[in-house]
Amino acid sequence: MERVFIFDTTLRDGEQIPGACLNPREKLEIALQLARLNVDAIEAGFPISSPGDFEAVKTIAKKVKGPVIVALARAVKTDIETAWKAIQDAHRPRLHVFLGTSDVHIQKKFGLDREKALERGLDALRFAKSLCPEVEYSTEDASRTDPDYLARVVEQVIKAGASVVNIPDTVGYAVPQQFGKLIADLKNRVPNIDKAVLSVHCHNDLGLATANTLAAVESGARQVECTMNGLGERAGNASLEEIVMALRTRKDFFHLEAGINTQEIMKTSRLVSRLMGIPVQANKAIVGANAFAHSSGIHQDGILKDRATYEIIRPEDLGITEHAMILTARSGRHALRNKVSKMGYDLSDKEFETVYEHFLSVADKKKQVYDEDIEILVQDVIFAHLSDTKLYTLESYKVNTGNGETPEARVRLHREDDIILEAVSEGSGPIDAIFKAVDKIVGVLHKLENFQVHAVTETKEAMGVATVWVSREGCRAMGRGSSTDILKASARAYVEAINRIAYFLEHPSERCSSAATSEGQATSA
Ligand code: KIV
Ligand code: ZN
Repeated sequence: MERVFIFDTTLRDGEQIPGACLNPREKLEIALQLARLNVDAIEAGFPISSPGDFEAVKTIAKKVKGPVIVALARAVKTDIETAWKAIQDAHRPRLHVFLGTSDVHIQKKFGLDREKALERGLDALRFAKSLCPEVEYSTEDASRTDPDYLARVVEQVIKAGASVVNIPDTVGYAVPQQFGKLIADLKNRVPNIDKAVLSVHCHNDLGLATANTLAAVESGARQVECTMNGLGERAGNASLEEIVMALRTRKDFFHLEAGINTQEIMKTSRLVSRLMGIPVQANKAIVGANAFAHSSGIHQDGILKDRATYEIIRPEDLGITEHAMILTARSGRHALRNKVSKMGYDLSDKEFETVYEHFLSVADKKKQVYDEDIEILVQDVIFAHLSDTKLYTLESYKVNTGNGETPEARVRLHREDDIILEAVSEGSGPIDAIFKAVDKIVGVLHKLENFQVHAVTETKEAMGVATVWVSREGCRAMGRGSSTDILKASARAYVEAINRIAYFLEHPSERCSSAATSEGQATSA
């Protein structure tokens, strides 16, 4: 069966969501998981955007085997040189050069005319080709480009050596029938079109990214650019899991195959959500918590008789384990080991013992421990090394509050030089009082930009995961904490976020691209 190539851009376009900021170790962790998912290409980043991104791309290029490793560059010599330096050690590197083709981009962004813009693009492409054998060229804002000019650009860039030509719907303007026709027309009228792979890259501003991508595939596009959980600039990009599962579930219609190891989809989705700090909405197709939850009596009855009545995808095919065995404090090591390895985690003895210890304390509080809880406990242990620093850790906290009273928090933090520090603060609520007490200990004020708590499962004793974004001195960072006690989860998240800020301020070169762009360097694609 003919193949569709899956080009994952979670680490580049996905990381352009406001507030996302992965450190190089986190980016590598996601790239390794994308390789297990078996994507064809990983767009690892935009190396010119920040030294941190450059380092992350370089590490991924050296360490991740299997997929093509792609680095993005504007049609600018220094961008291309920097991108090449970052990926030259990859087993299969690819430079991805982009330049706007719509009149609004050509005239307003660059102050050029169409001919000059084409010349600039071709010069950049030839330069990229002189460095890297595989070059992809993106005609940014293609869906709002004059089709005749677009066809000419596509023909010329293929002639100049582009192996992949990407047609982006940069602003999510396209509708499926029209976008499908645009791709079919390019296939029909560009004489050398069969010398390159035709790719699409759709944004979700009108909620049509997946539909547009599939329409393009039906018309002959053979590479799709997408992200895990549909993350990306503004409303996001086409979602990898939706495209892959649509191709697989409706093979009868598409007659195409993506080489994805679908059993890794759920794990990849949760990893990306955790490290980016962006929860997956409950009704998100394929990976949302409700994607396989049947609530109406008629549906439940149907499912019990035969799953095919209301289910078109088997959860097992996404790596979702059944809740067949809910663990309790009495389940023991063996049952937990078994569960963890069924979930696809291979823990060392030391890691397992730490998970077991945390499991016992959670089981003590909430009696029944679900797969979702265990996944959080495991991730807390195996990803502990990804944190930039443990400058401060939460030692303890106590809050006094009540109806009509001003909440007061007493917080103790352990500093990395083994000193315990304590402060007391009032706040407008218990969480505010905790955060203020932490600021008092650290001796600087942080601005709380965003704060979310969500329950991992539906029970009253559910584990809470808190995600906090804070900023200081123009630097923004995210922290995350989990516990059955949401005040503790919030305090942990806040401490992690301020640790990260302290680290970024001390190591400015490791700051991610979104942090750099917030200071006005217009290097976000
Ligand atoms: O949306 C877009 O056009 C892009 C390009 C850089 C491919 O992200
Ligand atoms: Zn994009």
